[in-house]
Amino acid sequence: MNKTLRKPIVAGNWKMNGSRSLVEEFCTTLSAAKLDNVESVICPPAPYLALFTGSDFALGGQDVSALANGAHTGDVSVNMLQEFGCQYVIVGHSERREDHGESSKLVAEKAAAVADAGLVPVVCVGESLNEREAGTYEAFISAQLDALLEGLNDQQLSACVIAYEPIWAIGTGKTASPEQAQAVHAFIRQHVAKKDQVLASKMRILYGGSVKPDNAHALFGQDDVDGGLIGGASLKVNDFIEICQAAN
Ligand code: PGA
Repeated sequence: MNKTLRKPIVAGNWKMNGSRSLVEEFCTTLSAAKLDNVESVICPPAPYLALFTGSDFALGGQDVSALANGAHTGDVSVNMLQEFGCQYVIVGHSERREDHGESSKLVAEKAAAVADAGLVPVVCVGESLNEREAGTYEAFISAQLDALLEGLNDQQLSACVIAYEPIWAIGTGKTASPEQAQAVHAFIRQHVAKKDQVLASKMRILYGGSVKPDNAHALFGQDDVDGGLIGGASLKVNDFIEICQAAN
C-alpha cells in the first residue's frame, strides 16, 4: 500500500510528567493549531484525563490492565480509559517491560483487551543497546512481534499500531538515523507480511526515541515511518505542534 493511504499519527507520551496548568496550555494551544492529515494524540498521566474537556485532539492511556475489573490495586481498565475519552492506549512501553517486568505475552493480552473495546493499541517494540551492538536486534524485535501476531485474532491485529522505539534512543538525545529507523520499520512490515500482507501494508508503524522538531521531518519522510511516539518533546506544546506538522 502507498504510504499516503496510511494516515500519520503523532502521539505524545507525557510519562509521569505534567500538571493542571500544562493540561490547560495544551487544551488552548494545541486545540487551536491547524493540524490536518495527522492524528494528534496526548497520553497524559491517568488522573489528568478528565481535565481535557473540549480539546480538539485525541487522548490516550499510557498503559492498561489486561483485565476488566477486580482486586488489582493501582491498575486501570480499558473501560475506565474509554469513559474518560481515550481512543488510544500505549501498551508494552520499554519502561513498563523493563521496570515492571511485563512480558510480550502480557503486552499481547493488553493489546487484545484494548482492541476488543474498540480502541487503538499502540504496541511498543524495540531493542536495547546490547542487542543493537550484538546485531541481534531483528531477532529480538521478531520475538516481541510474534507474541502479538500469535496472541491476537485478525480483527484485533487490524486495530493495532506498532511503535518502534529503540531503547538506546529513548530520552538519550541519541536518535536513530532516518536510515536506521527506515530499515527496522521495513523489517517490521515484512515480518507482519509473512502472516498477512494486507494487514502489513495497512499497519501504521510509528518511530519513537528522541524525536524533536529538528529531526521529525527526516524521520517521518521515510517510506515506512507513519508518524511518531514522542516523549520529552511532547511536554512543550510548540515543539509538539511542530512535530505534528512534520508528519502532515
Ligand atoms: P523520548 O521518549 O521522546 O523522550 O525519547 C520516547 C518514548 O519513550 O516514547
